[in-house]
Amino acid sequence: MSAILEVNNLKTTFHTGNGAVQAVRGVSFHLNEGEILGIVGESGSGKSVMSMSLIRLVAPTAKIEAGSILYKGKDISTYSARQLRSIRGKEIAMIFQDPMSSLNPVMTVGAQVAEMLSEHSRLSAKERKAQVIALFNRVRIPEAEKRYRQYPHELSGGMRQRVMMALALAMQPGILIADEPTTALDVTIQDQILKVMRQLQSELGTSILFITHDLAVVADLCSRVLVMYGGQIMEDASIDDIFARPLHPYTLGLMASIPSLEQEKATRLVPIPGSPPDMLNPPAGCPFAPRCPEAREICLENPAPLVDAGKGHHSRCWLLTEGARELDHPFRTVTDAMYRNRERTEDTL
Ligand SMILES: Nc1ncnc2c1ncn2[C@@H]1O[C@H](COP(=O)(O)OP(=O)(O)O)[C@@H](O)[C@H]1O
Ligand code: SF4
Ligand SMILES: [Mg+2]
Repeated sequence: MSAILEVNNLKTTFHTGNGAVQAVRGVSFHLNEGEILGIVGESGSGKSVMSMSLIRLVAPTAKIEAGSILYKGKDISTYSARQLRSIRGKEIAMIFQDPMSSLNPVMTVGAQVAEMLSEHSRLSAKERKAQVIALFNRVRIPEAEKRYRQYPHELSGGMRQRVMMALALAMQPGILIADEPTTALDVTIQDQILKVMRQLQSELGTSILFITHDLAVVADLCSRVLVMYGGQIMEDASIDDIFARPLHPYTLGLMASIPSLEQEKATRLVPIPGSPPDMLNPPAGCPFAPRCPEAREICLENPAPLVDAGKGHHSRCWLLTEGARELDHPFRTVTDAMYRNRERTEDTL
């Protein structure tokens, strides 16, 4: 499989009155042609800033300090503002949590999608309308003819998000970045949107970067996942592998907060105690150390290395390094699980 996007050592910092907010701190990953790659992490871990940095859609206070961003082999991080405008939407399209912020409230949704088409193709009005209806059908908007004439406020949240997908797809982009598109929607509607995502991937071969704070959604939708925390990737693996042998304490914490079917809704979530680091002043060592039940002294002082666990699985944790068993700390359940997984890793290598 070839990569449509390759990101190396991306760093984005906000220069604010209070100091430098290091939102993204050296992120590297690739997105394969036609795959759905999940990016998961709690709020504040840097998912949105990282993805918006890819097309430089960040606030003026933000500076992309380092990194290369290869889209179809070309480094778009060196592109001028004008060159980037020709990439945004057409090559790399984005949809967000709140579709209302991207839709024009005084224009029918059909006209908005048609306008997108007309900017970039020489179709007659009739052909444009037919294409918009076809797009609406593709994203499973029922009664497409009727919806065409409606305004955003006349549609439900789920329907607006589908219009956003139609708008994004109108340009036939190489990559669709979906930043928490289902977070504001109820579970049934969320399932419908995820189904449309899966169809886009299988029918059109769209490469999708799907951002969410919900590991259960990732498990359902994606073929691979990046786990982000404190502006860094903590673990990356295929979905099968990460559930078979999660290696990072943060990933284990996220997994513990996935509700199981038998559990009552009220008792479902076991969030990880504590809160994400202040990126104005991130910890010197592992960003998860203040919350990690397994933290050793070394973790507080020194950034953990990214350890290759085989099968394209990597984890940024001191406990996976050689000699970790000797690191001074009583073993706990999480560690025991990690060591079991590590032994499986050694079998794989
Ligand atoms: N405009 C901004 N100015 C300063 N800091 C920001 C700005 N936008 C985001 N941040 C900070 O960047 C970090 C990452 O944020 P974000 O990418 O939005 O997280 P996520 O999408 O994972 O919830 C957070 O610490 C956040 O406070
Ligand atoms: S490096 Fe240390 S603090 Fe960080 S996740 Fe691993 S054990 Fe926990
Ligand atoms: Mg976000």
